[in-house]
Amino acid sequence: MKPLNIGMIGYGFMGRAHSNAFRKVGNFFPIDRRIVLKAACGRDGAKTQAFAHTWGYESVETDWRALIARDDIDLIDIAATNNVHAEIALAAARAGKMVLCEKPLAMNPAEALKMVKAVEKAKVPNMVWYNYRRVPAVTLAKQLIDEGRLGKIFHYRAKFLQDWTISADVPQGGQGTWRLDAAVAGSGVTGDLLAHCIDTALWLNGGIKEVTAMTETFVKERQHALTGKKQKVGIDDASAFLARFRNGSLATFEATRYARGHKALYTFEINGEHASIFWDLHDLHRLQYFDHRDDGVIRGWRSIHVSDGDQPYMKNWWVPGLQIGYEHSFVHQVADFLAGVASGQLAAPTFRDGLATDYVTDAVLKSARSGQWTKVKSA
Ligand SMILES: NC(=O)c1ccc[n+]([C@@H]2O[C@H](COP(=O)([O-])OP(=O)(O)OC[C@H]3O[C@@H](n4cnc5c(N)ncnc54)[C@H](O)[C@@H]3O)[C@@H](O)[C@H]2O)c1
Repeated sequence: MKPLNIGMIGYGFMGRAHSNAFRKVGNFFPIDRRIVLKAACGRDGAKTQAFAHTWGYESVETDWRALIARDDIDLIDIAATNNVHAEIALAAARAGKMVLCEKPLAMNPAEALKMVKAVEKAKVPNMVWYNYRRVPAVTLAKQLIDEGRLGKIFHYRAKFLQDWTISADVPQGGQGTWRLDAAVAGSGVTGDLLAHCIDTALWLNGGIKEVTAMTETFVKERQHALTGKKQKVGIDDASAFLARFRNGSLATFEATRYARGHKALYTFEINGEHASIFWDLHDLHRLQYFDHRDDGVIRGWRSIHVSDGDQPYMKNWWVPGLQIGYEHSFVHQVADFLAGVASGQLAAPTFRDGLATDYVTDAVLKSARSGQWTKVKSA
């Protein structure tokens, strides 16, 4: 099998999740390339070396430019913070490498558009790591909607709730807390958490026409972990918006890091003419489904344990009835990416799909500032 040499940038949470996926995918899915963890890249040499050792990377780079310049790297995987996605992706596309990029695709739509143009001009395979599409229960929701089981969709309701930034002592900037620093993150929960909800929604329910939003920054100043100085907080701590989809359905979206008791509660509910669907990240292997066409005496919400061989992705894992978890969504994403490269039909979400989400988050932030309904651009 022809090798596929991976160059991984970033050794944090996502560097680990992606490395795990690259290592496992060939054990469970019929891929046509031999994945080689060729090089890990991070700015701190000792930490990058330790990461490379743990995950089995053959070599280490401390400058992503050197990684991209290497002839023995086929694919650049950007698992670094949002502020560096664009310049790395542009350079990787110019060098003719395949590019996978973490979400949100960019700091703003202008950057994201440049990235889309670069990968499309260079004709390099590309994808954004919106991994929730590939949780089997979420993929099953897509299948049920596409089969028309819900009928006309009236409502889409999504939330992503966390509680880790309530204390004013949490700094902004630096390792782990870069998400609170607008210069590195671009925005707060809108680009971080809502971006996931929006990507899933665009996939399941089509495009969003317009939004009206409100955001709040509850803690106005925080010490910067790198400078030690108290600085104004530039991110949104909480964000909520109403949306109209192009198919006529209405939606509410909410994300916050101030919902005490919730660590990563991503839920969505879709109500159609015939049926409804509900999914909850804390119970990710289940899909709740209600079908009004069932006989009245047995009609009710059914909790589908998505673990059988005829349900998405599951025949590649263990035996029916045994559930899988969060990390498997990344394995599925690599499997689908490689299948797309092999067939010439790129798996979504491509960079262009990532731009579509960035257009929505941008409209949300603009609407929150203006207090007006704001149209969403088409990607
Ligand atoms: N798909 C998901 O569910 C999901 C979950 C978490 C994070 N993310 C996204 O993944 C990305 C990384 O987030 P994380 O949670 O892994 O963060 P993290 O803080 O755990 O890791 C960030 C990594 O980026 C590296 N980095 C930053 N600038 C760099 C540079 N110039 N050169 C090389 N490396 C650099 C850091 O050293 C670190 O290794 C972000 O874009 C984030 O939004 C996605």
